[in-house]
Amino acid sequence: MQRKHSVLRNYPVVGHLRYLLEDIRPELQQYFIERNWDGRPYDRDTRSIIYERAKGIHGEQAFGTERDVEAIDYEYLVHSTVPATAPDDPPRVLIGGPDCTKPYSMSLLNVSAMSFGALSANALRALNKGAAMGGFAHDTGEGGLSPYHEEFGGDLVWEIGTGYFSVRTKDGDFDPEEFADKSSRDQVKCVSLKLSQGAKPGIGGVLPAAKVTKEIAKIREVPKGQKCVSPPTHRVFSTPTELIEFVARMRELSGGKPAGFKLCVGSRTDVLAICKAILEVGTAPDFIIVDGAEGGTGAAPLEFEDHVGMPLTQGLMTVHNALVGTGLRDRIKIGASGKISAGNDIVKRLIQGADYTNAARAMMMAVGCIQAQMCHTDKCPVGVATQNHRRARALDVGDKSQRVQRFQEATVAEAVQIMAAMGVTHPSQLDPTMLRRNVSSTANQSYAEVYEWLAPRQLLSEPPQSWADDWAIASADTFHSRRQETHR
Ligand SMILES: Cc1cc2nc3c(=O)[nH]c(=O)nc-3n(C[C@H](O)[C@H](O)[C@H](O)COP(=O)(O)O)c2cc1C
Repeated sequence: MQRKHSVLRNYPVVGHLRYLLEDIRPELQQYFIERNWDGRPYDRDTRSIIYERAKGIHGEQAFGTERDVEAIDYEYLVHSTVPATAPDDPPRVLIGGPDCTKPYSMSLLNVSAMSFGALSANALRALNKGAAMGGFAHDTGEGGLSPYHEEFGGDLVWEIGTGYFSVRTKDGDFDPEEFADKSSRDQVKCVSLKLSQGAKPGIGGVLPAAKVTKEIAKIREVPKGQKCVSPPTHRVFSTPTELIEFVARMRELSGGKPAGFKLCVGSRTDVLAICKAILEVGTAPDFIIVDGAEGGTGAAPLEFEDHVGMPLTQGLMTVHNALVGTGLRDRIKIGASGKISAGNDIVKRLIQGADYTNAARAMMMAVGCIQAQMCHTDKCPVGVATQNHRRARALDVGDKSQRVQRFQEATVAEAVQIMAAMGVTHPSQLDPTMLRRNVSSTANQSYAEVYEWLAPRQLLSEPPQSWADDWAIASADTFHSRRQETHR
């Protein structure tokens, strides 16, 4: 009957062992239940912070840092000797370039794309209800627009991927009429085209046949009980120019809503090719979401999770600098995702070039994920990442939606407080001198020194030597320029 602990709702007797051990001796709990903790993507401290914030506990920590602040690669944010006063309302960012007629005011932290199929209906309900309560955006993921995304009216970024789920013809092509119809719904605030995601760039998703229930089949518009594969490649474009034209078409079909795309960066030439295409076509996406190689997934081959794709820091700075260098940065907002779970993560990404951030796994933890890492087996013990109704019942939507709202609010508030400590009241006042990194055992440097930052339109006038080759090779007509160059 209790609603707070999903583990106990699914395992009412044995589940107490976890809490008992937690009470008696945390070390025992760690040994018996979480003994592989070190291998998990989020460490114990990070998870504790997410849980506490979600539960509304704003606990300060006793005793001081546990980080090795002398380590090479340790990074820190630069505080001011005269901190500012944090604004009462957290800053937001307006998404929508000159061709967008319905700009959207985006929060600094939003729910990243996770599909119905990967997540349970209850998890999506809780995320969307939390987004509605807290006034932030919820990305649908590529698995289609489901009733569970829409039930509580929270703002949606509607994502379509290579499968065009919810907007596909029988043959798997994009259906423009259906897209126009569904994207015109008021709750859909932005439309997004997924090119790739950090955990598995270059391959599509697979939903095993057993998980393609009648309901999923209906929402995705695919046959029931058959393996549901998103192909690796899009049918709607094959060149940078066609990509930009298609994103513009999405904006038009949606009635002028912000349209953009999400990618994990592969090479700098790809990004520059897209910039050239924007300049040639004469219209720009309203946003680009950069996902880092460190990003999560419901299911992907380990090799792809660990060895393919650019990490967020590099990917984000590549996209930001390419847009600055081509004079396009003012028209396009940049979102960032990849292990964002705390206020300092948000501020760091804003300094590296983002305008706003999205979190997937931290939001999963806010709805009760315990990092069992069983999403792909359909046996999630807490009802978050499963299509099994009995398991999903454990997730209480009322309680968990509050946790989502609290986690988002407290994390953004922390980011705003950190910025105030740095002497700034708005992200536009941040700059790369404000993030520093230990570069050796005796020296540290700011991001302004460690990395190269392009001046506005620099690539158009006089590309620096370090960018000149890539800029010359990049072509609006192909995503294969690097390969051709190497083979020549
Ligand atoms: C269970 C799960 C399902 C996901 N499904 C999608 C998806 O449908 N489309 C997408 O673009 N990204 C998807 N992602 C990737 C996330 O949106 C996000 O980009 C990535 O996990 C990085 O964020 P994180 O580190 O905060 O988890 C998924 C991630 C998870 C964990």
